[in-house]
Amino acid sequence: MSQPNSLYTNRIFTGQLSNHIGEEVEIFGWIHVRRDQGKMIFFEIRDKDGLVQAVVLPNKTEALETAKKIRDEFVVKIKGLVNKRPDRNVQADIFNGDIELEVNEIEIINESQTMPYDIHNSKEVNEEVRLKYRYLDLRGKRVHDNIIMRDKVITFFRKYMHDSGFIEIETPVLMKGTPEGSREFLVPSRLHHGTFYALPQSPQQFKQLLMVSGFERYFQIARCMRDEDQRGDRQPEFTQLDFEMSFIDQETILEYTEKMFIDLVSKLYPHKKISAIPFPRISYAESMEKYGNDKPDLRVDKTNPDELAFCWVVDFPMYEKMKDGSISTAHHPFCSTHPDDEELFMNSKAGDEDLLKIRANSYDLVLNGYELSSGSIRIHKKEVQNKVFELLGMTAEQIQNKFGHMLEAFTFGCPPHGGFAPGIDRVVMLLQNEPNIREVIAFPKTGEARDLMTNAPAAMPDEQIKELGIKVIKE
Ligand code: AMO
Repeated sequence: MSQPNSLYTNRIFTGQLSNHIGEEVEIFGWIHVRRDQGKMIFFEIRDKDGLVQAVVLPNKTEALETAKKIRDEFVVKIKGLVNKRPDRNVQADIFNGDIELEVNEIEIINESQTMPYDIHNSKEVNEEVRLKYRYLDLRGKRVHDNIIMRDKVITFFRKYMHDSGFIEIETPVLMKGTPEGSREFLVPSRLHHGTFYALPQSPQQFKQLLMVSGFERYFQIARCMRDEDQRGDRQPEFTQLDFEMSFIDQETILEYTEKMFIDLVSKLYPHKKISAIPFPRISYAESMEKYGNDKPDLRVDKTNPDELAFCWVVDFPMYEKMKDGSISTAHHPFCSTHPDDEELFMNSKAGDEDLLKIRANSYDLVLNGYELSSGSIRIHKKEVQNKVFELLGMTAEQIQNKFGHMLEAFTFGCPPHGGFAPGIDRVVMLLQNEPNIREVIAFPKTGEARDLMTNAPAAMPDEQIKELGIKVIKE
């Protein structure tokens, strides 16, 4: 990939070294470990592929001189001979454990300060320090490997989607707001003082509108933003494999998704075992009664990191009572009604206690006690959608203001449709046996929603605030 005759034209990656035994090669990378044995110096050099051991022999005086100045994490270029290790030194179970580089020349390309902590062994290190130096933390094997596996998981999903006739479509990040139930992040408009964009909590409305547009199978690796209290499995920005299909029923979406997860595990995590195939299905009511929650952990052995107990929870309630006594939709207001509850839905009025008995055609995928994904078969008729809003106690004017565009779209030949949205961070967290999603996100926020590396959120210059037509009230 490098330009002809560039400094890097002859570069060999550590992953290619075993094809060059007996040859002199040039490698570039970081000093992973340095062991000075006086007459000889040993290094481990690291690049994107992994490590290789290198030795500077006593007769290489110039290289030895440079090697004495080198410290951990210096960036170097090394010219050396790729040797097979003698049998007694072979470490068959480690990467490049059967070869060694005999160094002829070393060039220091850039020095490095001493690391602020042991980046290659950070399990016990305070997380705030790790997040302040996240770019170094990402050099360490643990998070580095998580990010590489995250890419493999996303690549798997993309291919699975494309192979099934979906196309990826990007939807706006500056929008009017989504009724996903969490608080929204707002962006003030400079051109229209006093008005705000909301950052999407998910592409829910756009993906449904894309069904009206006739794409029939949409997906997106979608960034979602929610201003909610943080937890180990929550971040203010996170990523969904968001998808939507037209002319589809719940059964087909469940089967399709189930196969996708079984394939994912067998391709990328073959050592893991799925406890039960097909995934068990339980209703929300049954789950609440039996387990006291709607995301049961069905593992047989909860200490086994390689057991994956997927299950489906179906028939969620359509409405729920909030702490302040008001009624809200349990998932979002676009879910259609369970066929057995349609009559109750059509005969209900805002404020009826019976609203809480209406079930939706909505479903969750749960893994080891975590909610991985939610979805539903949607409403595709204007009158039905309007009724959902009315039952929430919204006035005609409020409905028109907030959702007029959706209701109008439903009048132009909207097909029946439904979808799902697995949270990629949670999927990777569980597959990588990590205790929280921060470990699988390159640049996550802390529990207080701060980025300690760049110091966000931050105060802005008065000029910039003024330009936006807003005033900051300092507490
Ligand atoms: P829902 O709000 O249930 O559904 O989100 C779907 C999945 O997204 C993940 N998730 C999160 N991950 C990390 N941090 C968060 N703050 C966070 N919030 C949600 C979870 C969750 O299961 N539009 C609908 C989907 C649909 O109906 O198709 C939606 O967003 O894994």
